[in-house]
Amino acid sequence: METLVNTSWLEACRTEDAIENGGVCLKLRDKQIALFYFTRRNEWYATQNECPHKRQMILSRGMLGSLGDTPKVACPFHKKTFALDTGECLSGDECAIETYPVKVENGRVYIALTTEVTTHSPIPAMQ
Ligand code: FES
Repeated sequence: METLVNTSWLEACRTEDAIENGGVCLKLRDKQIALFYFTRRNEWYATQNECPHKRQMILSRGMLGSLGDTPKVACPFHKKTFALDTGECLSGDECAIETYPVKVENGRVYIALTTEVTTHSPIPAMQ
């Protein structure tokens, strides 16, 4: 058995659909994703929308900020913060969030998602 990782860039929205210094929630494939347009830093980030603390689908409503050079989002419920670039929890907890690459081309925002495909070795022919 072999596991292959396939990465696809999926169109998420138009740039004008994003909120300046805020997030929007969208669904790509089976994932709820929070897309952030951090206007003050002129940067885009995408993370899972679910806050791992109490499993609330809420991070797209979080408040953006910076911890030193690290861009972060604060969950609106209990204010746990997560690095937008690495997903690390900055509140001292073990929980982290998934992050996804983002690119902007021709006024469209794209997010890269990966899928794993498991292949089975062919059965050797009988001799
Ligand atoms: S649900 Fe997000 S910090 Fe508690």
